[in-house]
Amino acid sequence: MLKIGVLASGRGSNFQSILDRIESGFIKAEIAILITDKPDAYAIERAKNHGIESLVMQPRDFDGKNLYYGAIASELKKRGVGLVVLAGFMRVVGKGLIDSYPNKIMNIHPALLPSFPGLHGQRDAVDYGVKVSGCTVHFVDEGVDTGPIIAQAAVPCHDDDTEDTLSARILKKEHEIYPLAIKLFSEGMISLDGRTVRLKCSKPDGTLMNPAEG
Ligand code: GAR
Repeated sequence: MLKIGVLASGRGSNFQSILDRIESGFIKAEIAILITDKPDAYAIERAKNHGIESLVMQPRDFDGKNLYYGAIASELKKRGVGLVVLAGFMRVVGKGLIDSYPNKIMNIHPALLPSFPGLHGQRDAVDYGVKVSGCTVHFVDEGVDTGPIIAQAAVPCHDDDTEDTLSARILKKEHEIYPLAIKLFSEGMISLDGRTVRLKCSKPDGTLMNPAEG
């Protein structure tokens, strides 16, 4: 069974949605470890509640970015992790990890990439005045939110939206498409053609199956 390593920096609601979908049997995989760069991340509490090992690894304890990400990679490899899931991990992942897990690191970003990459996807969308925003699951490469796109979901952006109201609307979609992308990966349904991700789960009419249909 696929072993997943989760990296998170904070609240961990995406981590929770993945845990829930594993426990319900929707995703057939196991979370081997949670690694966080913040000792006070609420994600640690969530891991504890589900009997999952967690490790705090902070960049300041390592001699540079390469050694930091190399050490994370070795903790993941030690536990047989086959997929790394960034769930609100607020750092640009370094080569030391990317080289160990090529096209096996996923991230969720709260905007419709390639629009509004970076740390403030929702605020940037509101400030720009877009009418539609959403979220994107993508593989991680060395750029900032530039890797191949696996799945996206759109939400309306209203005239009176604030960063908070838009974030809440987007987050609901995050909790749907991230578990779905992980499920597809765990079932070998995702392949890459250049930077185009092909999903082997289309209905005959070409639309993507609904997560609820399993
Ligand atoms: C989520 O909205 C996620 O998309 C975003 O941080 C939030 C984490 O929430 N990630 C990024 O902005 C990455 N650049 P969570 O801790 O409750 O899952």
